Amino acid sequence: MKDIVMKPSILVARAVFPEVLTKLAQHFEIESNQADETWSKAQLTEKLHGKVGAFTTGTDRIDAEVLAACPQLKICANMAVGYNNFDIAAMTAAGVLATNTPDVLTETTADFGFALMMATARRMTESEHYLRAGKWTKWSYDMFAGSDIHGATLGILGMGRIGQGIAKRGAHGFGMNVIYHNRSRLDATSEAACKARYVSKEELLKTADHLVLVLPYSAASHHAIGAAELAQMKPTATLVNIARGGIVDDAALAAALRDKRIAAAGLDVFEGEPAVHPDLLTVPNVVLTPHIASSSVPTRLAMANLAADNLIAFFTQGKALTPLNA
Ligand code: GLV
Repeated sequence: MKDIVMKPSILVARAVFPEVLTKLAQHFEIESNQADETWSKAQLTEKLHGKVGAFTTGTDRIDAEVLAACPQLKICANMAVGYNNFDIAAMTAAGVLATNTPDVLTETTADFGFALMMATARRMTESEHYLRAGKWTKWSYDMFAGSDIHGATLGILGMGRIGQGIAKRGAHGFGMNVIYHNRSRLDATSEAACKARYVSKEELLKTADHLVLVLPYSAASHHAIGAAELAQMKPTATLVNIARGGIVDDAALAAALRDKRIAAAGLDVFEGEPAVHPDLLTVPNVVLTPHIASSSVPTRLAMANLAADNLIAFFTQGKALTPLNA
């Protein structure tokens, strides 16, 4: 009699490109969520029970409680470069491998960070809302006058791959003077490639005309930009957050925008998203987007494929491609 070989059983926790699901189905028994239902933690835990692997996104929290209820779990492959939804220490203690999707989204996300900075500085959504509301009746000399990008000082907090991508766009494409602050200083070759100068966080806040946040979220970076930091920025400055909600104190930012303590902000990520602090919805000088910085079709497909390939490589070759806690 022919042996029946059971495929490993995995959970794909969110809707994903059908072709990626088809690829996964060649290797795994899959429970999927193509209806893209929002599961509570208890529902996620129940679905994960008995699975050896999971395809997750930044919205799926994997912590000690979930892990304790799912002892068969061996790997969680996140379709995101950020992984603050994973308790890495708990995963390591439980012998569960975590993977993410670095590199494939760097340039797309840097494009978006730059676009959000430009839209913020040049008041693009504020002016579009004005036009759509039928308020545009005449030309005027200072209509939606914003600030320049070319020649301005670009400040970057968090100088990883995406931060460096934004720095290069600013320095080489727009003649910006680039300064940055990071946990560790870049080597001289990387600094030269970005034409970027390392400064203290204080100097960054005080000097930047446009400050872009690209640092990972952790307990250490929680509210890295709050009322005290906003108070140090120029009143003409703009702030862009494409990193994670929680890095900025959104209530303090809304107050600073309302009182014009800084000129404007561009936010792709929010504390407690998809909820947005109600005060941010009432101030005009903020560009708001729903966590889409990596969302070009080719890049989202590349991210989904990399997450899937991590699962496949782990179960077929015993080694994932982009492990976080190997
Ligand atoms: C998106 O936020 C990501 O971390 O990939």
